[in-house]
Amino acid sequence: MRIDVITIFPGYLAPLREALLGRAIAAGLVDLDVHDLRDWTHDVHQAVDDAPYGGGPGMVMRPQVWGEALDAVLARDARTPRIVVPTPAGRPFTQATAQEWAGAERLLFACGRYEGIDQRVVDDARGRGLPVDEVSIGDYVLVGGEAAVLVMVEAVVRLLPGVLGNPASAEQDSFSDGLLEGPAYTRPETWRGLAVPEVLRSGNHAAIARWRRDRALERTAQRRPDLLAALPERALDKADRAF
Ligand code: ADE
Repeated sequence: MRIDVITIFPGYLAPLREALLGRAIAAGLVDLDVHDLRDWTHDVHQAVDDAPYGGGPGMVMRPQVWGEALDAVLARDARTPRIVVPTPAGRPFTQATAQEWAGAERLLFACGRYEGIDQRVVDDARGRGLPVDEVSIGDYVLVGGEAAVLVMVEAVVRLLPGVLGNPASAEQDSFSDGLLEGPAYTRPETWRGLAVPEVLRSGNHAAIARWRRDRALERTAQRRPDLLAALPERALDKADRAF
């Protein structure tokens, strides 16, 4: 997968080269290119923003600079990317979004700052047939899209084949079956007077699977009743319905 990021703070994306993502890049599974938006400015001040039409606080990112930057970055590879614009005004980014994007050959993230990017940049790209997703990582406002890109790229890249040591980890994720994951334990058997639940040491795989499912249902009911309510009836077995 090729990932391009356009930002006025390229250094902000440095953590993408650490840990799991860094290994995916080193292994050739991900090709990451971070671009400085100011490379496409033409004035001495390298201005990327201007006052909003209609008035109001904050600044809006200028369409000319973004238009040139997108054209140039798009031309670096023959594959058409999904263009992603992180914004608190976007559709929610979820595990389903991550799964969908993990199937793409190329992603291009356009990081806005200030009050956002002139809307015509997105309208123009869509008008040329390019797929553009405006997405939010949660109901809170960040200073810019960079931290959101770190979150989204990590969620997508860990789903790529060969990235996780054990692919079953992704299959058992919270959300992959619509439920939160239950608690996990490792050695020692007793720690500070607290014992690991007996059933997990029983070797009875059916009983362990049932116990895990019950804890997942219990936790989801307590912490995210909205997720439980959204589950289709067919996703629940007879024992599940007790919750
Ligand atoms: N930019 C600012 N806030 C954001 C959010 N919540 N999600 C994505 N991008 C953002």
